[in-house]
Amino acid sequence: MSNAGNTVSAKDRVLIFDTTLRDGEQCPGATMTFEEKLEVADMLDAMGVDIIEAGFPIASEGDFEAVSAIASRIKRATVAGLARAISADIARAGEAVRHAARPRIHTFVSTSPIHLQHQMRKSEEEVLEIITKTVTQARNLVDDVEWSGMDATRTPIDYLCRAVETAIRAGATTINLPDTVGYATPDEYRAMFKAVRERVPNADKAIFSAHCHNDLGLAVANSLAAVEGGARQVECTINGIGERAGNAALEEIVMALRVRGDVMPYDTGIDATYLMRASKAVSSACSFPVQYNKAIVGRNAFAHESGIHQDGMLKHQQTYEIMTPASVGVTKTSLVMGKHSGRAAFRSKLSEMGYALGDNQLEDAFTRFKALADRKKHVYDEDIEALVDENLATAHDRVKLVSLTVIAGTRGPQRAMLKLDIDGRIVAEEAEGNGPIDAVFNAVKALVPHEAVLELYDVHAVTEGTDAQAEVTVRLGQNGAAVTGRGADPDTLVSSCKAYLAALNKLVARGSRVHAQAAE
Ligand code: KIV
Ligand code: ZN
Repeated sequence: MSNAGNTVSAKDRVLIFDTTLRDGEQCPGATMTFEEKLEVADMLDAMGVDIIEAGFPIASEGDFEAVSAIASRIKRATVAGLARAISADIARAGEAVRHAARPRIHTFVSTSPIHLQHQMRKSEEEVLEIITKTVTQARNLVDDVEWSGMDATRTPIDYLCRAVETAIRAGATTINLPDTVGYATPDEYRAMFKAVRERVPNADKAIFSAHCHNDLGLAVANSLAAVEGGARQVECTINGIGERAGNAALEEIVMALRVRGDVMPYDTGIDATYLMRASKAVSSACSFPVQYNKAIVGRNAFAHESGIHQDGMLKHQQTYEIMTPASVGVTKTSLVMGKHSGRAAFRSKLSEMGYALGDNQLEDAFTRFKALADRKKHVYDEDIEALVDENLATAHDRVKLVSLTVIAGTRGPQRAMLKLDIDGRIVAEEAEGNGPIDAVFNAVKALVPHEAVLELYDVHAVTEGTDAQAEVTVRLGQNGAAVTGRGADPDTLVSSCKAYLAALNKLVARGSRVHAQAAE
């Protein structure tokens, strides 16, 4: 491609700080299990992320365990643990990352008047003292300390400069200036970095970092503007998941810098051919669908529908494509899959689609594929994607669907006969409901008692045709936390049951009050 890879000599390096496992996982319904977090961390390391923010160790025992395990296994990237400006937080973060090859403590405190006055009830001088104390404590535990001034974009520049100077003097090696509420515009954000770097006397002793939220849809634009203003670290998440409208999307930042290297002469260490794989891994781990028209990794990102575009593409690829699908790990294939396709073809199809499965996972996915191909004439890429995503997401589940029979129709009552495998033990239940889905969910609840509330139920067809698989998303809420599960099957009731179980398994894995063995 001529557009992608225009080379500019001596490009500056921008560090990619991935916070999918912290800010990303923090968003409602995006919770990942311990094993899923490890898988995502491995993927981030393999793709070349410089810093992996693995979690918020003080937040829960589960977070602490995940950060420690990631710190111990990741050999290349720096592993960061988040801490508030509180001594116990910093000690816990230090403990969690202590086995990392390259440990970092990331500590933050609010700097804006609105946060100081209403949330912290502290004066500016008190916050400066807190910065000195907490950054010093972190620096006594690790050499690599990042300090963030929360709500930096709504902080008067004079005070922000004083806070930054204080943090660097206390030993912070990275200074992050977040647009916590997604309020800034690119010009403002660029100017803020420029001003702070020019005015703070010890600014040359730290790397500056951008951290943007997407409330106005400006997170990526703001991150790139920050780089122009002198930031050399960008904090982002796969698929842009994160609090509220999300964080800046890693894949968009990486590809914007790569495709428009002519006007933004900066390099990242990311192997972009991993982007699609990482997007799928995160989407299936947190059961968050990727919107179809999402830049870079959306299903339609490289689809050309209109006649004029298709005509142009047939004549020359660059007429309507500014980067190749292959450059982000999407490979088109003409391999048609059906019930006669063998293991080798299935394996090759999966790797073309960007999946890297272990032997057991592959075998499991192949068995499911064969079962689907027996029921469905044409197995499309989307079918395989739904099947493998489900396979990956349910690999560590304690509660599994064995069989489901539902009596539905105009003559009620609707009735579900359900068999589950709970930790290797087969249990069965029959239940009625106000409609077939209610009956199925009632049967599940009888076998796996819980207090979670159904917050969202969504169904869509994976492909066209009346034999298409139905993909169901279920969100369950319990005690202010939410988990999401997805299931796919040609039978909508079966996929509903799978999705419900997937969400329940996440609650079980989190140690919530779900009684996975209560069917005795
Ligand atoms: O958005 C934010 O300000 C944060 C900080 C903890 C860095 O996520
Ligand atoms: Zn954030």
